[in-house]
Amino acid sequence: MGMKTDKPVTTRDIRARKGGTPLVTLTAYTAPVAEILDRHCDLLLVGDSLGMVIYGMDTTLGVTMDMMIAHTTAVMRKARRACVVMDLPFGSYQESPEQAFRNSARAMAETGCHAVKIEGGTEMAETVDFLVRRGIPVLGHVGLTPQAVNTMGGFRTQGRSGPEAERILADAAAISEAGAFAVVVEGVVESLAAEITQRIAVPTIGIGASAACDGQVLVVDDMLGLFGDISPKFVKRYASLSEEIDRAVASYADEVRERSFPGEAHVFKPAPAS
Ligand code: KIV
Repeated sequence: MGMKTDKPVTTRDIRARKGGTPLVTLTAYTAPVAEILDRHCDLLLVGDSLGMVIYGMDTTLGVTMDMMIAHTTAVMRKARRACVVMDLPFGSYQESPEQAFRNSARAMAETGCHAVKIEGGTEMAETVDFLVRRGIPVLGHVGLTPQAVNTMGGFRTQGRSGPEAERILADAAAISEAGAFAVVVEGVVESLAAEITQRIAVPTIGIGASAACDGQVLVVDDMLGLFGDISPKFVKRYASLSEEIDRAVASYADEVRERSFPGEAHVFKPAPAS
């Protein structure tokens, strides 16, 4: 698997990568970007971070199933090889395993995505088990869980104290044992991410975690330098696309104002007289 074949990556393939070549994951929200990312990634995550990244919200809490389904459908149109996971948004799964099943089934039937992601630890283990037994592959998400921003007291690094670290380790173990094919570990101290990776049976996918994780994920707009002026410490910027866009739009604006655009190459001429 990996980059040497066009064979689609399944959730079973991902599960089997525990301790192997690290899993390359990025978020994807639109068809044209998904087409590029698909050439390089094992997993594409249609994250509910789209609420903040695409829609300018302050948190992910206002994201709806309809928004997630529209973007996942777009990503699925261009993803050929990567395994595509849709985030279940806030309020669409926490109430009961049955509610989680209904919304996961809708996501998979309407978009064709391969799996869903849900946030939470021991309290969500029963739901993960319920979904997996009914044919829905689940990616877990522990540590800093943005949908719980109000109970966590903000987006802050998790696992700094012993009891908090113990709880997060227990969360990851519960989600793994309940049948998740992998677990995202977000915003925790590095040594804890490494310990979780050693202790659980399924791959960990880190963000603000550790290079020891079985894979990494970043928000694509963050790593491309497209989103926000200040990026969190854990984001490495591989490009500065907002500067590139700013330069391009400034040139366009100048050319429109001085009437040098459209030029000869961009206008239509009448058909030559016959
Ligand atoms: O919503 C999201 O993009 C995520 C990743 C950052 C893991 O959950």
